[in-house]
Amino acid sequence: MPSARIVVEPAYTVGPLNRRLFGSFVEHLGRCVYDGIYEPGHQLADADGFRSDVVDLVRELGVTIIRYPGGNFVSGHRWEDGVGPREARPQRLNLAWHSLETNQVGLQEFADWCQRVGAELMLALNLGTRGVVEALDLLEYSNIGVGSALSKERAANGTPEPFGVRMWCLGNEMDGPWQLGHRSAEDYGKLASQVAKAMRQLDPGLELVVCGSSNRSMPTFGTWERVVLEHTYDDVDFISCHAYYQERDGDRGSFLASAVDMDAFIEAVIATADSVQAARRSERRIDISFDEWNVWYMDRYRESGRITGLENWPYAPRLLEDRYSVTDAVVVGSLLISLLKHADRVQAACLAQLVNVIAPIMTEPGGPAWRQTIFFPFAITARLARGTVLRLAVESPTYVAAAYGTVPLVDSVATIDDSGSVAVFLVHRGMDTPITVSIDVGSLGPVQLGESITLADDDPTASNTLEDPQRIAPARNRSARTENGVLTIDLPPISWTALQLTATK
Ligand code: AHR
Repeated sequence: MPSARIVVEPAYTVGPLNRRLFGSFVEHLGRCVYDGIYEPGHQLADADGFRSDVVDLVRELGVTIIRYPGGNFVSGHRWEDGVGPREARPQRLNLAWHSLETNQVGLQEFADWCQRVGAELMLALNLGTRGVVEALDLLEYSNIGVGSALSKERAANGTPEPFGVRMWCLGNEMDGPWQLGHRSAEDYGKLASQVAKAMRQLDPGLELVVCGSSNRSMPTFGTWERVVLEHTYDDVDFISCHAYYQERDGDRGSFLASAVDMDAFIEAVIATADSVQAARRSERRIDISFDEWNVWYMDRYRESGRITGLENWPYAPRLLEDRYSVTDAVVVGSLLISLLKHADRVQAACLAQLVNVIAPIMTEPGGPAWRQTIFFPFAITARLARGTVLRLAVESPTYVAAAYGTVPLVDSVATIDDSGSVAVFLVHRGMDTPITVSIDVGSLGPVQLGESITLADDDPTASNTLEDPQRIAPARNRSARTENGVLTIDLPPISWTALQLTATK
């Protein structure tokens, strides 16, 4: 059996782990909101129409912050439509996804729902069809306690306390030609700077995210970041990254190595941001909000044909409802490892999305809710990763991935908290053979092995479905053993693993 070796040394830190790394994303898209989190006729719906089984699963997932309400949707969104008496709210056309927006769920309801699931609300602004005035209005409505017209309106709508939203996205994917109001880096940078300055005039303590590239293969990638940051460097705190991965043309080896692309993406954006910093001789540092990431079979969506027709605007259509396999979950686990490895600069990240739309949680109208395979690595990482991220020394055999060249079979990261609890996360990308991994934990002193959980299956294409919702679940990895300061574990092919150990001295 091939083998890999890892050394854990608590002195080698990446940085403190920001819990916002375990964020997610809810967009008014398909059945994410309507017939997803919200289904008033469902037997488990509360008085506001929200499904309590979905709330329970979101809590179990461990999501810390949720980006809302889009995505592409936000670039045509009027936030005022989603507040006030529900019966008076207008039905609108959701141009991004060619569907009907009833506005029965809006800012008011979503902010309440975030409280129920225990997550912070991150708001995205419409900078596609709107600008400074509307951004200021939304900020006033959301964050001002008393005395202004819009804070009074919010109170009259039933919420005297402001929502207190700290993190704001200045638009969505403004580099993408598909985006309503798409513009050049110059034009967007100028607009984002104006909006950010105006918002800070109202509340200097806001945390603002400027749009980076929609993915690393955009023709403008790199230049976009540089130009946008040249306009906004002093006005914002974060630049966004978005990335979706899929298996293409049966090339599973490259798909399993998707985190190599994510690593390179993050490092390129850091380099670009830091070069703008150097040129400006600035003391400020711009960090990353990786506020959309996941596996998404985008090619299938493109091939399936978009909804069209002047008189055809369906309510809650089934869109982007990818069914995730074990392999997809292993890739999601490895992408989480990549995010953790960059925890010094990636300060927030959002698994896109949360329910039904490229999601860890699926629902059936009038029926059950269940966990997709990708639910597990996210929930377990969010639960076990604590404190400070550690940089590990990993010696692993390699393989050649067509898209990325030579790639290690095993990738890993660890965290340690103040109580001495250590979590180690591992991915094995090998497709045919198990691998034995020896983890040198001698520097921790005597340790007690707690959980050891592996996600794998003899059929790496297996998934959870409405008919068989519990086909895939992580299982205890009984091969884990510790001896003389070395933790040894066997990892099956295409697998993701989490280990938890406690230093006993
Ligand atoms: O998450 C689905 C879509 O992907 C979002 O609306 C958009 O921002 C991205 O292109």
